[in-house]
Amino acid sequence: MRIVNSNKLKPGDTVGRDVLTKHGSIFIAKETVLTEHMIYKLISLGVDNVHVKDLEELIDYESIPRPKPPEDIVEFTDKYQQALFLTGELLDAIASGKKLETEMIREIVDIVYGQVMSTNNILGRLTYQKHDNQYLNKHSLNVAILSGIIGKWLNRSNGEVRRLIFAGLTHDLGKLKVPKRILDKPSRLTDEEFKEMQKHSAFGYQLLNTKADISKDVALAVLQHHEREDGSGYPTGLKGEAIHLFGKILAVADVYDAMSSNKNYRDKFSPFQVAEQIAQNSFGSMDPRVSRVFLDNISRFYVGNSILLSDGKIGDIIYINPSEPTRPVIKLETGDFLDLSKSKLKIIDILG
Ligand SMILES: [Fe+2]
Repeated sequence: MRIVNSNKLKPGDTVGRDVLTKHGSIFIAKETVLTEHMIYKLISLGVDNVHVKDLEELIDYESIPRPKPPEDIVEFTDKYQQALFLTGELLDAIASGKKLETEMIREIVDIVYGQVMSTNNILGRLTYQKHDNQYLNKHSLNVAILSGIIGKWLNRSNGEVRRLIFAGLTHDLGKLKVPKRILDKPSRLTDEEFKEMQKHSAFGYQLLNTKADISKDVALAVLQHHEREDGSGYPTGLKGEAIHLFGKILAVADVYDAMSSNKNYRDKFSPFQVAEQIAQNSFGSMDPRVSRVFLDNISRFYVGNSILLSDGKIGDIIYINPSEPTRPVIKLETGDFLDLSKSKLKIIDILG
């Protein structure tokens, strides 16, 4: 919603808040679509400003019909659900004080590794896996998948890709040692609570580092997944090359999943919007090599996908501009072309 000077109102604008007379009665009710005559009346009555709804607030994105998911999504979904079930069991076991079973983690790593190596458009597939109340389970699994895929894009060895998946899966394990009232608090954390929450990376490290059969770089990645290139992270405020490559990869995967997984359309970001954010951060808090490879691949995988734009229109991505990979050229359903690098519209969802 924005506040518009009455002289700048246009016929067709939708009123966002009731416009009241001097006596407090409603002159024009919210949701009214303004006509030229109404605008004239507003100005002549001396109403200076009116709340006007933005285009994006007027669209019911949920009601827009989506194309059917492609066939090969079925296999991925099947494996994803299988891995998700096991991730749930793993986290439940830790939460109830049981010892960490490395074998159980390896079983999940095997499933994820198989998918990371064989699924072509894994990010596109991930967007079909809806988020719900199993947030920590899904977030852990998604960060495992994303860390693995980034490792693959960075041409790391197969062993390293497996360890990245392992680290992604266990990156927030330490949260199970943070008091539940803080973990599940729906409102903003106080400074003190936030400090408690920040301890989760060290808790996770302690859990993993004591196991002889867990590689040191996995434990280190978990410890460092909230460190940032410019030293603004925690727990130590390490900078640049002092942070292990695995920690940097986990950081990008973690931020990407957290931003793309909000249930609410208004707060959720499409992979393109998230990639844009990561790109903007890449010379500050994120490692530029890791974010670049991520950005390039995201864009590449989405050519040919149909997408939903912020004005409610549907189109296909047909060309990625290498200098601005997050703002591709779209072919709209009408047959018209739209160059997003020259438009304010955003891609708000990938439809498949
Ligand atoms: Fe974390």
